[in-house]
Amino acid sequence: MAMKGSRGYRSGLVDLQAGEISREIFVNEDIYAEEQERIFARAWLHVGHESQIPKPGDYFVSSMGEESVILCRDRASRIHVFLNSCRHRGMKVCRYDEGTAAVFTCPYHGWSFGTDGRLVGVPYFREAYHSRLDKEKWGLIEVAQLANYKGSIWATWDPAAPSFTEYLGGFTRYLDLQLDGWDGREAQAEVLCGVQKWLVPCNWKFPAENFSGDTYHNISHRSVDLAGIGPSGAGRRDMGERDVSRKLHVCIPDRGHQTILYVLPAERLPPPAYMNAPIVAEYFRHCEEEKRRRRGEEARLVGAPGEIFPNTALLSRQPRTMAGWHPRGPHQTECWRWYFVDRDAPGEVKQFLRDYYIRYSGPAGMTEQDDMENWNYAHAASRGTIARRHPYNYDQGSGTAVTDYEYQGLSVPGEVIDLTEVQSSEQPMRNFYRRWAEFMEAGDWSQLATWRGSERKAAE
Ligand code: FES
Ligand SMILES: [Fe+2]
Repeated sequence: MAMKGSRGYRSGLVDLQAGEISREIFVNEDIYAEEQERIFARAWLHVGHESQIPKPGDYFVSSMGEESVILCRDRASRIHVFLNSCRHRGMKVCRYDEGTAAVFTCPYHGWSFGTDGRLVGVPYFREAYHSRLDKEKWGLIEVAQLANYKGSIWATWDPAAPSFTEYLGGFTRYLDLQLDGWDGREAQAEVLCGVQKWLVPCNWKFPAENFSGDTYHNISHRSVDLAGIGPSGAGRRDMGERDVSRKLHVCIPDRGHQTILYVLPAERLPPPAYMNAPIVAEYFRHCEEEKRRRRGEEARLVGAPGEIFPNTALLSRQPRTMAGWHPRGPHQTECWRWYFVDRDAPGEVKQFLRDYYIRYSGPAGMTEQDDMENWNYAHAASRGTIARRHPYNYDQGSGTAVTDYEYQGLSVPGEVIDLTEVQSSEQPMRNFYRRWAEFMEAGDWSQLATWRGSERKAAE
């Protein structure tokens, strides 16, 4: 068991050579506490989307690791992310999920902060503080770096972290699949309705590794496949395995990001029926044509589940959603799910997809319920004295990834496994936990940014 001062994350607890990972990293309280320092205080984290705060004064209360943060747009329309904690005694200055405010007034003693974070109001400033409190010094705590990537907002507490695009590495291509329009125009996504939030009794890494690309757990979803909850009334999604030329695992080494990637056939297939909703079918037929016109061969790529390290999941294929896995103690995760549509899609399309999204995902989603049942019981059954002596197996497909895959002129950089041949691999999980172990051992970002190539290979 790794305790402070005697860590062995890369060599002991996460032993990728043997394909074994200790259960301790999921259930141990000390390791959980270290994750907050070493991962959530240093990594870039997803906070929200600018469509959630369209006007000056709009805010959305989000989460970075365990901590509450306020994503808001100030009077000058600049976007900020602040720690949601008063500088006086720490009270939450904003207790709503979202809304519009001129100032955030602390309910405890009444300090007020502008939407730019400045301390603007202090009760009895003259009498009690003799006008000597330095208001400039006591504004809300702001993140060290913020990035607006095609409307999605990301932040880190670490001033030494690399830029967000450097952090993503080659994964920008797959985040683009999430945020660009169905018709191939850039940055067309908007958040549909609110964000669903719910608690699952499992460690946050269970959903994170599952969405990294667990292609092995189809058995869990047999009932939804049989029921045909997909938008065309078949399977889970609007795309059967028969409709794709290639299905790949794509992992970005040194970054810990990974996704499943489908390559559509060069010749267009008849569009899905969308449950006899002709306007929706016609809309997507038109979008696909436009996308192929704008993007050429690149339009054949479709991403479905992927994970940006550490705790953001993407599903750019229907249902098009993003998820956050917020740690709430080692044995509990607060799951958040954002649903996306193209902002200028017809109302009928948005309504159709809304029904499908909540039928599939989130706390009421039939597919996600299958997953939660697994995470819940797997976690509980791993906590016992005997259970935690025995590691999990992560050996599937070890050593079979190719570097820089190419198919019909489409190049796919990274470590790639062709699932069309092997059906399933655990390369994405190994990529995720390799990065997890690096974060847990690295002293600072200079080490995290240089653990590459030969050094990483030697560590395996
Ligand atoms: S805790 Fe906010 S004003 Fe005292
Ligand atoms: Fe699943």
